[in-house]
Amino acid sequence: MAQKLLAAFLLLLFSFAITVSSAQKSFRPKALVIPIKKDTSTNQYLTTIRQRTPLVPVSLVLDLGGQFLWVDCDKNYVSSTYRPARCGSAQCSLAGSTSCGTCNAPPRPGCNNNTCGLIPDNTITHTATGGELAEDAVSVQSTNGFNPGQNVTVSRFLFSCAPTFLLKGLASGVSGMAGLGRTKIALPTQFASAFSFARKFAVCLSSNGVVFFGDGPYGFLPNVEYDSKSLTYTPLFINPVSTASAYSQGEPSAEYFIGVSSIKVDQNVVKVKSSLLTINKTSGVGGTKISTVNPYTVLEDSIFNALVKSFVNASAARNITRVASVKPFGACFSTENVFSTRLGYAVPTIELVLENAKLSWSIFGANSVVQVSDKVICLGFVNGGKNPTTSIVIGGYQLENNLLQFDLAASRLGFSSLLFGRQTTCSNFNFTSTA
Ligand SMILES: *[C@@H]1O[C@H](CO)[C@@H](O)[C@H](O)[C@H]1NC(C)=O
Ligand SMILES: *[C@@H]1O[C@H](CO)[C@@H](O)[C@H](O)[C@H]1NC(C)=O
Ligand SMILES: *[C@@H]1O[C@H](CO)[C@@H](O)[C@H](O)[C@H]1NC(C)=O
Ligand SMILES: *[C@@H]1O[C@H](CO)[C@@H](O)[C@H](O)[C@H]1NC(C)=O
Ligand SMILES: *[C@@H]1O[C@H](CO)[C@@H](O)[C@H](O)[C@H]1NC(C)=O
Ligand SMILES: *[C@@H]1O[C@H](CO)[C@@H](O)[C@H](O)[C@H]1NC(C)=O
Repeated sequence: MAQKLLAAFLLLLFSFAITVSSAQKSFRPKALVIPIKKDTSTNQYLTTIRQRTPLVPVSLVLDLGGQFLWVDCDKNYVSSTYRPARCGSAQCSLAGSTSCGTCNAPPRPGCNNNTCGLIPDNTITHTATGGELAEDAVSVQSTNGFNPGQNVTVSRFLFSCAPTFLLKGLASGVSGMAGLGRTKIALPTQFASAFSFARKFAVCLSSNGVVFFGDGPYGFLPNVEYDSKSLTYTPLFINPVSTASAYSQGEPSAEYFIGVSSIKVDQNVVKVKSSLLTINKTSGVGGTKISTVNPYTVLEDSIFNALVKSFVNASAARNITRVASVKPFGACFSTENVFSTRLGYAVPTIELVLENAKLSWSIFGANSVVQVSDKVICLGFVNGGKNPTTSIVIGGYQLENNLLQFDLAASRLGFSSLLFGRQTTCSNFNFTSTA
């Protein structure tokens, strides 16, 4: 009896040991983390992932609405695991590619025959070109939400090659763009399917920010965490017409749109033509999107002028003196009578009232005004002209130090409001690895 028990116990121990060792070998992360650094000369948000065999760090511009990862394959691309995607393969259909290419040169990464192609898009200069679809190893750090853990590799990560000229306009040292948009091969969905975790990701921009792939909690020093209970949610909309520089007919936009129903400044409604705030389903024109490639929020001309007027009026009511404008901004003020608060300068609060009119995205001083000199601050919004495709493009400066979670399965955006309110910042993720 006792022997039988002992045998059963040993068997149990043995199978436990097997489970543990195989679990270590096939470690499955519940989330991943990549760093963001703001390039001060271009205001672009950059990230680094490791790619190829052997792995090398690849610096990329972060493009929230970008369709996929694209990198320059013409220069310095060396890898023993590079594989072009053959025409008609499952990879080509996952990527939505219908073209099949040839290359009149010796084969190398970016130049292979019988390979399907995509259209990598430099969304900063609005330049697009053809490039082959390929797979290679990509390695990033896993996370428990609070620190990075061990590195994990996706051995066949899909991306597009691009020629070197497509890098024009990107920060120096960069070799492509990391697209986090709504496609099957953008980073969030490829990572979620490689590791079977939730199709959610979170972006926290700052000079030293962070992107999480997977669900929260997302932790920031000292001891602040965000999860679905501490975020406010609003629906994400799909624009049925692509907003890329080049696309095929019928392709939806990969970008993230939200419903802004009105704008207020210190509680007063800004006069805006309401048709500008909705997406025209036929032309794809109008509406509000979120972008990390625009350094400041860009507003259609009439919205811009109305916001400036309201902001100037509300500033005057707070005894804030307007001074000469500094380009590219439309209204600047002396800091003389402006208090500093935890949420930045005490300037009028701008509210983007959402779909559900009871909810709004409040923009406080830290996100609304830019310090251009010692004594001058400017409203950090720019004029997008009379006929832009999208009426409101919420840009990087307005997003900084706000945690935004994109829940793709539920098609909703969770936002935190300014992290300064909880005495933390997007630079406060603890990047000390516990692996
Ligand atoms: C593609 O095929 C053509 C014609 O067979 C050949 O001349 C060319 O070298 C090939 N290119 C590559 C990259 O294999
Ligand atoms: C894990 O990745 C990080 C950055 O991506 C790198 O600095 C580190 O050396 C890697 N660690 C190992 C053990 O490869
Ligand atoms: C939507 O766009 C189409 C095509 O440009 C146009 O004909 C139509 O009038 C627009 N609809 C509205 C409601 O503006
Ligand atoms: C201007 O500001 C005053 C004081 O806040 C407010 O009562 C008034 O409605 C504002 N006017 C406009 C057009 O926003
Ligand atoms: C308004 O600002 C002026 C200086 O520009 C100052 O002298 C005055 O006291 C301020 N008034 C209020 C009510 O804050
Ligand atoms: C960051 O994480 C490391 C590893 O867990 C920990 O030792 C360190 O104390 C943390 N840093 C701070 C400032 O809490």
